[in-house]
Amino acid sequence: MTGWVNRFAHAGDSAVEIAESTAYRFRQAKTEIVTASRVAYQFLAGVASNNSLLNAESQNRGRSPRFQASWFKNLISSGANPSTSSEMENQDEETTQQQQRLDAEALLRQNSRLDSLLQYNRKPQLAGETPRVVVITSGKGGVGKTTTTANIGLSLARIGFSIVAIDADVGLRNLDLLLGLENRVNYTVVEVLNGDCRLDQALVRDKRWSNFELLCISKPRSKLPLGFGGKALIWLVEALKAREEGVPDFIIIDCPAGIDAGFITAITPANEAVLVTTPDITSLRDADRVTGLLECDGIRDINMIVNRVRTDMIKGEDMMSVLDVQEMLGLPLLGVIPEDTEVIRSTNRGYPLVLNKPPALAGLAFEQAAWRLVEQDSMKAVMMEEEPKKRGFFSFFGG
Ligand SMILES: Nc1ncnc2c1ncn2[C@@H]1O[C@H](COP(=O)(O)OP(=O)(O)O)[C@@H](O)[C@H]1O
Ligand SMILES: [Mg+2]
Repeated sequence: MTGWVNRFAHAGDSAVEIAESTAYRFRQAKTEIVTASRVAYQFLAGVASNNSLLNAESQNRGRSPRFQASWFKNLISSGANPSTSSEMENQDEETTQQQQRLDAEALLRQNSRLDSLLQYNRKPQLAGETPRVVVITSGKGGVGKTTTTANIGLSLARIGFSIVAIDADVGLRNLDLLLGLENRVNYTVVEVLNGDCRLDQALVRDKRWSNFELLCISKPRSKLPLGFGGKALIWLVEALKAREEGVPDFIIIDCPAGIDAGFITAITPANEAVLVTTPDITSLRDADRVTGLLECDGIRDINMIVNRVRTDMIKGEDMMSVLDVQEMLGLPLLGVIPEDTEVIRSTNRGYPLVLNKPPALAGLAFEQAAWRLVEQDSMKAVMMEEEPKKRGFFSFFGG
């Protein structure tokens, strides 16, 4: 009899324990949701003062990841009916802020669902054959190729895919710095090819995500040996496929700027490309040229990331909108990344943005782009004319 009583008592204890840990996890999830929403809100509150907003939506809603974080829609502004700075100055500041808050909240309400903010509860469907060999390129330097490689690479690793990131920026490599792995690069591909070390010795495994490995082509400031070209990279991809660990899901190549030998070498083994551009004419002209070269090389699967987007400048007609960029380049849109000081901070810390807690807006945008890359999905910029419904910000949380 006492045995039974004890057993029931233990069952009661376990139930209480389970309930406590569930409640704890629930609280944690709630905190993350609130933080993510705040980040979104702060951003939107700064930009949403207009009724004419552009809407970036998945082209294929049925197949697209639920992690669309569609509150990101109004990043892409047409510049239609922009509020001029003088108009803005004349407005009573409080009324403007109130209006911005209402617009932002309405957008959040309209465009978001809790599950679109945090989508860590499912793994996206990997489309295409593995390894997916993706080159991150741009033509122009300094537009965010390395930042994109680091953030998309780690996002993919965090989702659970095996990643090898190759820094093909010979002489000016800095992917190792962005990832905080600079002190662990002892060997490079050049030494592997010279027979000075094995391939696995040149692969640097990230301690945070062990399914992410970095491979550098050469030592900083060194010149590429004569004869090193596209064939060497094709050999490298084959060697990565033949490893005991199995075929990696993604091989991501950080391409050097320009369109000379380094560029040709980097794109040779790729079967798809992510073209990073900023919304300025110099970057766009280079991107257009690079698109042509990629197509000549047989890479038809080219998606574009528009980086360093500033909605305030788009609204002031000082920056091209993403819609303009898309019309000019005619490429599917993988992601839109806002200008964000957190990017610079994370670069200097060697801690990619996507790992930040609370999440930075650019980090969430990179994560969305990574999801689209996995599912070979894209987004598009379209006009959204209707005025958003005005509701309380906390109604977003069901309040
Ligand atoms: N979205 C962004 N917001 C702010 N700064 C950015 C953003 N993207 C890139 N940067 C900064 O721009 C600089 C160049 O980026 P990088 O990725 O090295 O370009 P690339 O590899 O094309 O030369 C870096 O200092 C980086 O921190
Ligand atoms: Mg770079």
